[in-house]
Amino acid sequence: MSFPNHFLWGGALAANQVEGAYNVGGKGLSVADVATYKPNVDIKDYKAHTGISLEDIKAAMSDDNTDIYPKRRGIDFYHRYKEDVVLFAEMGFKALRVSIAWSRLFPTGEEEFPNEEGVAFYDSLFKELKSYNIEPIVTLSHYEMPLALSVKYNGWVERRIIDDFVRFSRVCFERFGKYVKYWLNFNEVDSIIRHPFTTAGIIPELCGEKGELACCYQALHHQFVASARVAKIMREIVPNAKMGCMLTKLMTYPRTCAPEDVAATQAKNLDNMFYSDVMVFGEYPVLILNRMKKQGIQIKMDESDLKELKEGTVDFVSFSYYMSMTESIDPNAERTPGNTVLGVKNPYLESSDWGWQVDPVGLRISLIELYDRYKKPLFIVENGIGAKDEMIDGKIHDPYRIEYFRKHFIQMSKAIDEGVELIGYTSWAPIDLISASTNQMSKRYGFIYVDADDEGNGTFNRYKKDSFYWYKKVIASNGEDLD
Ligand code: BG6
Repeated sequence: MSFPNHFLWGGALAANQVEGAYNVGGKGLSVADVATYKPNVDIKDYKAHTGISLEDIKAAMSDDNTDIYPKRRGIDFYHRYKEDVVLFAEMGFKALRVSIAWSRLFPTGEEEFPNEEGVAFYDSLFKELKSYNIEPIVTLSHYEMPLALSVKYNGWVERRIIDDFVRFSRVCFERFGKYVKYWLNFNEVDSIIRHPFTTAGIIPELCGEKGELACCYQALHHQFVASARVAKIMREIVPNAKMGCMLTKLMTYPRTCAPEDVAATQAKNLDNMFYSDVMVFGEYPVLILNRMKKQGIQIKMDESDLKELKEGTVDFVSFSYYMSMTESIDPNAERTPGNTVLGVKNPYLESSDWGWQVDPVGLRISLIELYDRYKKPLFIVENGIGAKDEMIDGKIHDPYRIEYFRKHFIQMSKAIDEGVELIGYTSWAPIDLISASTNQMSKRYGFIYVDADDEGNGTFNRYKKDSFYWYKKVIASNGEDLD
């Protein structure tokens, strides 16, 4: 087994899925705080789960309910983080990926100066992590922009959001740069097309004649420019820090070797990597620009944008990897859900309780593909399985989770043996939390069980699952002991 010394083993969280305390300490509402738990909606229909209208948003804004808006309560990490960090340290974590809730620092996004209570919370979280030698890996934007910016400007569609985000990021570098070496700009930047509201605060009905897709590409362009700008600012303020992009690695295979299936698959995979292409190479891929032109999409750019993209490229490439899928031109091919996608089923793979197809070898293929393409250090910042766990007599036996991780770690080590530079691995998620897509609590990812149900009933107490002890052993042996 070949994990390098100082490999960053750990776990990953997002503020909006764990913190709760949505209206505490001066925090403003974020887009996550109006995301609704919809028990009667089919889990295959991720668009129905993540979709929202202006009317829904307005209703949520005048409602204090935390039952149907589960991200408002999260797992109460805001009050319990010290207890959770102790558990992460007990597992031997070298790293914890977290995000900074933009609306905890800038409640409406437009304030000139940050909310000091919000700054104090993250300062104390990072201090706590450092006291256990846990390296914080920090995402600047993880599905939680201030709701006010969404409602007022249709989120990232409006160019002025770049300045708001830069002001927020600057404060993060100035105030937390002493603790944080690894920064990520936008979580799953490619997801803007799949769920525009969650990712970029875009309310489809405000897109008007331009249409939703054109709005998404315009907003995406603004995120690209913002990423480049904050990378430069980070280098000025914290010279030895590193900036990474973050991609949903959606590995797609052709369903058959029919050339038409291969061509359809190629288009999907090129599209999946276009976002990181821009952030690594500092330019738009020609084929993507051509496709947009054919679709009648014209991105409005300022004269200096392309130069800025070139000057603000990233230092490393991070990604999430959960599942793979296949592609086929057969309209009747059976489809199955994945990470906010519906892919064609692969007869060689098994699926999770939520239908996501488990494919450890696909992780090795992804690592090799990304390293060969970008020649930059890689960081797996999300990987894991959402499952239904049961607590019996205070114990949670989760052999399926151990099996999932074991198989993925074997493939990671094979990729490293082939020469891939992998700097770390943060599982999604080390502790049960609210699902990003379905807002469920019962879709559990953690090594640590949280006693809470989908409606928010429960003590919120933490319990160690069998996988907790297993992961501890893996980290202690630097990936040697996977039994
Ligand atoms: C990633 C997101 O897409 O997948 C996380 O970055 C999310 O925020 C994770 O939680 C798993 O997805 P879900 O929908 O099962 O929570």
